[in-house]
Amino acid sequence: MTGTALKASAAAPGTLDPEEEYSRDRIESLQLERLQRTVALAYEKVELYRRKFDDAGVHPGDLRELSDLAKFPFTTKEDLRRSYPFGMFAVPQDRVVRIHASSGTTGKPTVVGYTAGDIDRWATLVARSLRASGVKTGWKVHNAYGYGLFTGGLGAHYGAEKLGCTVIPMSGGQTERQVQLIRDFEPDAILATPTYLLTILDAMTAAGIDRRSTSLKTAVLGAEPWTEEMRHELEERMGFDACDIYGLSEVMGPGVAGECVESKDGSHIWEDHFRPEIVDPFTDEVLPDGEAGELVFTSLTKEALPIIRYRTHDLTRLLPGTARPGMRRMGRITGRSDDMIILRGVNLFPTQVEELALRIPALSPHFQLELTRPEGQRMDQLNVKVEPREGVSAEAARDAAATLREQIKIHIGSSCTVSVVEQGSLVRSSGKLKRVYDLRPRSGAE
Ligand code: DLL
Repeated sequence: MTGTALKASAAAPGTLDPEEEYSRDRIESLQLERLQRTVALAYEKVELYRRKFDDAGVHPGDLRELSDLAKFPFTTKEDLRRSYPFGMFAVPQDRVVRIHASSGTTGKPTVVGYTAGDIDRWATLVARSLRASGVKTGWKVHNAYGYGLFTGGLGAHYGAEKLGCTVIPMSGGQTERQVQLIRDFEPDAILATPTYLLTILDAMTAAGIDRRSTSLKTAVLGAEPWTEEMRHELEERMGFDACDIYGLSEVMGPGVAGECVESKDGSHIWEDHFRPEIVDPFTDEVLPDGEAGELVFTSLTKEALPIIRYRTHDLTRLLPGTARPGMRRMGRITGRSDDMIILRGVNLFPTQVEELALRIPALSPHFQLELTRPEGQRMDQLNVKVEPREGVSAEAARDAAATLREQIKIHIGSSCTVSVVEQGSLVRSSGKLKRVYDLRPRSGAE
């Protein structure tokens, strides 16, 4: 699948890629053409796809218009795990120039591979995302996404280089060192998870650095859910722009979608390379734009690992394009369907708590959720542990906790307890932060 048609054309500094200016119609006809090729490639080269298509009674030739995609079976993380390590690759190993893997919490990792062309398109899309978020050619970029099997570090790195930036490949961790290098190297932009940026900001305060006086102008944040309230928190504290970048390793890595700094209204999905759908997570039915459900992606230009209707488990909705009218945006991700807490019949996500906690001035963004089932009780309990902001009195912190408890009851519908804990006592992020601790006895857990 090489050739000029598939090349993600890198734009000259400061200008958009041509596809970013395509009309919706033009994007859709490009999608259909690329989709037909991808589905044919998957059927021809990957046994698992051939088997799944045959079982579902569909053939690549049945894909005549975009809506025909709904006839094709979904792909899941389980499929990748079952094909561990390289069973879903569509090219011989000597064409695979890079492997990444996501660890996952249980079982085998999912392994993904890239041809040289895939790496080039990936870099172009990350460069496009960074440019959309306000990062400029010639800037110094501090990359605090973890390097290694995780796609964040190297994915962001190649994209920033492609944009013509000077990359500082810091990776995650060694927070004091990060602070020192930000002070000494004076980067213009930082790439990190939102919660790790919070960790860095706290370390700056501890080092007596005035955060608003740093050289940083832009932060491009992703790899975990975050809220508008968190954007506000970070922008206020730092005096810079904070934009979203979205992606997942099975579909490519960072840069599947990126947010435009001029509108800050959610990430535009780079639809010249990915066809998104929203499906009802329970009935699997494709939902119309604007309705919330599970995001599903089909790759349109990937060679080593074409992915058909991949179930991301991410919950969001598709919205019309704004700054890039031909491409749709995704709403903020509320959470993952597999991370949802079901508390006495009510669904709850950590992002909802983040949103409410950050609206209360006495509370900091440092919180965690603990699920327990006290001895002899049949009901689960949720305790929200939250740190107060600096200088908040014990009484004001108690009042703030009571307000948060009330707000959770009103807006989410769950009864819970909220405890204010000592500043600095909760585990800090070094990448993707774990917010939920399930402390229920294993055998009793539902
Ligand atoms: O997290 C890729 C990435 C790296 C994206 C750096 C952005 C920046 P995975 O480790 O495979 O890949 O995890 C993918 O992370 O399905 C979402 O649940 C979550 N996620 C990624 N970006 C965002 C975001 C990388 N902007 C999983 N907002 C995805 C919310 C995100 N969740």
